[in-house]
Amino acid sequence: MSHEAIVAALGEPGWSITPDYLCAAEVAALRDECLSAYSRGAFHRAGVGKGVAEVRTEIRGDQVFWIDAEHAGAALQALLTKLEDLRQAVNRNLFLGLFDLELHFAAYPPGAGYQRHLDRFQDDDRRTLTVILYLNENWMPADGGQLNFWSSEAGPVLEIPPSGGTLVAFLSDRFWHEVVPANRQRLSLTGWFRRR
Ligand code: OGA
Ligand code: MN
Repeated sequence: MSHEAIVAALGEPGWSITPDYLCAAEVAALRDECLSAYSRGAFHRAGVGKGVAEVRTEIRGDQVFWIDAEHAGAALQALLTKLEDLRQAVNRNLFLGLFDLELHFAAYPPGAGYQRHLDRFQDDDRRTLTVILYLNENWMPADGGQLNFWSSEAGPVLEIPPSGGTLVAFLSDRFWHEVVPANRQRLSLTGWFRRR
């Protein structure tokens, strides 16, 4: 799916799923960057809420590593360039005024999930567009770990498997979602385009 098609879907219904946003080799290179940061101990327990966030593993069990664009490896640089193109396409067509991108790797150990939530903080409304890129090789239905996504109050729940290369994008303040615990480590890059 092109950025044009993603932008159209973000206009209506407000979310898009792109199964092959990156090819297998690009995903493998990002996974290597992710796992090497993980093994050098760069990840920390993710918190809930903003600022001095509280770690509450029963709500959210992942570990994260925030991306610093200046120290990003080649695979990440290429992705950041692509996401910058997406940001501009969204702003040109939807006038969301997306200004910057905060992005982290996330690693969910087996058994960890993230309970149903919205991505926008109560006291900070800058997060506008959520993007999630999965980095997992050969994800099987039996592995669990799907992203459950409520596309409307009453509407159907989408179950999105975290298969490597899939990009999920949605308006951050609109859609409730949940990460179901998996039987194996679950890796992703998750980011929020923010307005000023
Ligand atoms: C999040 C989140 C979903 C996923 O990090 O806020 O909802 O599928 N992640 O990883
Ligand atoms: Mn979320």
